[in-house]
Amino acid sequence: MANVAVIGSQWGDEGKGKIVDWLSSRADVVVRFQGGHNAGHTLVIDGVTYKLSLLPSGIVRKSKLSVIGNGVVVDPWALLEEIETVRGKGVEVNPDKLMIAENAHLILPVHQVLDGALEKIRGKGSIGTTKRGIGPAYEDKVARRGIRVCDLRHPEILKEKLEQMVAHHNALLKGLGADTVNVDEIYSRLMAVADEVLSYTGVVWKTLDEARRQGKKILFEGAQGMMLDIDHGTYPFVTSSNMHAGQAATGSGMGPDAVNYVLGITKAYTTRVGEGPFPTEQDNEVGIFLGERGHEFGTVTGRKRRCGWFDAVMVRQAVKIGGIHGIALTKLDVLDGLEELKICVGYELEGKSLDYFPSSQVEQERVQPVYETVSGWKESTRGARSWAELPAEAVKYVRHVEELIGAPVTLLSTSPERDDTILMHDPFLG
Ligand code: GDP
Ligand code: IMO
Ligand code: MG
Repeated sequence: MANVAVIGSQWGDEGKGKIVDWLSSRADVVVRFQGGHNAGHTLVIDGVTYKLSLLPSGIVRKSKLSVIGNGVVVDPWALLEEIETVRGKGVEVNPDKLMIAENAHLILPVHQVLDGALEKIRGKGSIGTTKRGIGPAYEDKVARRGIRVCDLRHPEILKEKLEQMVAHHNALLKGLGADTVNVDEIYSRLMAVADEVLSYTGVVWKTLDEARRQGKKILFEGAQGMMLDIDHGTYPFVTSSNMHAGQAATGSGMGPDAVNYVLGITKAYTTRVGEGPFPTEQDNEVGIFLGERGHEFGTVTGRKRRCGWFDAVMVRQAVKIGGIHGIALTKLDVLDGLEELKICVGYELEGKSLDYFPSSQVEQERVQPVYETVSGWKESTRGARSWAELPAEAVKYVRHVEELIGAPVTLLSTSPERDDTILMHDPFLG
């Protein structure tokens, strides 16, 4: 039996939450391995909507273990609030069901202040972050001044570490003309939640090692998408972590063979929230149609998502870089009723053809998409639960996407509802 990693293949919001929730019935453990509460994963189960940011999407199922790995940055207050919210919907959360890596780094209020101040000085070049403090928290981790979950066990040392961290950041905030933060306030707020956070803490690498040796199935839940990857995305308009499936291993404490099947989640068109290049963006009635039909508003910030045609070049690149074995194609139903559909099959840059998306920021902004036009379909695909229910043109579109990106469609999603999903190949079979 294979362990599966689910990763976004575009700019996030591909429908990872829905697919992870659906797949989690077949898994024993669901693990988040990067990102933080910048993620917004939506699950719709029998008409009830759950929006998860930090909690793995397996949390709604009774007998599954949900794990927040060391690669995640954890805002302890956001975590506890989310736990309360899902409890309000009848979901049980207790230390038997949820484990947080003791070596995961914390996002503190100073990181959110920095996120806001840094975006402000970027001015026109702002990234359009979620302002959750994700980037500054990862910066502190790499700079070796971060505070980890396990530090909550040792208040005196925690206080010293906090004083050093805050002194560093206050110097910067002063220089930026921003308000500074108060270390005592952060410390007492942290102490107020320390015991509760610690009650969920565990040695994740050991737990996952045992699970593996017992033959349990592990499902890794990525956040964001490959084009937001710190190395492979549209840098600097990216988030501050790797969402490459390789991160599933380092972000949870397992060997490189922890993942046997990489499932890329791919929207049948393209969206992006925040700033940065987007070659197939449709700032016109097509974009408005996709946005309205697809309810394309950010789960976390409520911002309108930018919308455009399917970019096969970009997804093919994500397939190759990410070692994606198969994809789950989502939101096919949003395309219902369009007479013609466009697919980007290449780019042109200064009169030359390109079969890949370049790394340079300048070139990424300059590439012009080369489109192929294909027929749409009039019939509804919404809620289809079998391949036979799909109109011929929709089947053609799916087959063509497979051909262009060089990976098979393993799952097909036809509505936000959990069960409106068509399985072509079980990823847990490898
Ligand atoms: P994630 O961040 O990748 O988990 O995706 P989000 O939850 O941020 O955004 C995806 C949105 O599309 C959510 O509102 C889902 O409920 C919805 N969704 C997922 N799959 C489908 C689908 O096949 N069809 C439609 N119409 N909506 C879907
Ligand atoms: P899910 O998991 C879409 C984007 C932000 C911004 C950039 C950097 O729901 O797919 P950050 O706050 O991470 O420093 O912001 O990344 N971004 C996302 N866009 N889906 C997400 O997550 C995202 N997480 C971050 O909008 O452009
Ligand atoms: Mg999302």
